[in-house]
Amino acid sequence: MEQNRLSRDSIGKLCEMALGMRSRSYAPYSHFRVGAALLAKDGRIFTGCNVENAGFPAGCCAEKTAFAQAVSEGAREFTAIAISGGPEDGALQYCPPCGVCRQFMSEFCRGDFLIILTKTPDDYEVHTLDELMPMRFTPKNLL
Ligand code: THU
Repeated sequence: MEQNRLSRDSIGKLCEMALGMRSRSYAPYSHFRVGAALLAKDGRIFTGCNVENAGFPAGCCAEKTAFAQAVSEGAREFTAIAISGGPEDGALQYCPPCGVCRQFMSEFCRGDFLIILTKTPDDYEVHTLDELMPMRFTPKNLL
């Protein structure tokens, strides 16, 4: 199977968009701002931020927001997502996606889907879904 590959420029652009989305984050409870930029196979990029709620479990992660946005715009196949997160007043970190978001990704993405954790457009780690979510439950399990 062909592996997903992205140029440094494409990764840098995704990172920049994820970092920019942190400014839209609605995080009055955790004060932890997360932005995400999701690259669809057709070249479109969908963004998201975390959207918290006074009823805490009703809140939504940045990655999930980006996927919901993408799917609602007709995209179903994806190459990569860049994620940028950290405390409002603190340093950025390589913010790993939570378990629910990994499951959400598993619905639409193959194992070679790239998960880019970024602090700046030049400072990032690249992982794959296979690596971050081995032995995942997917639509195939229901067949
Ligand atoms: N958060 C995300 O948006 N993505 C992640 O992968 C980790 C956590 C959000 C959820 C909540 O709004 C805040 O970060 C603190 O958990």
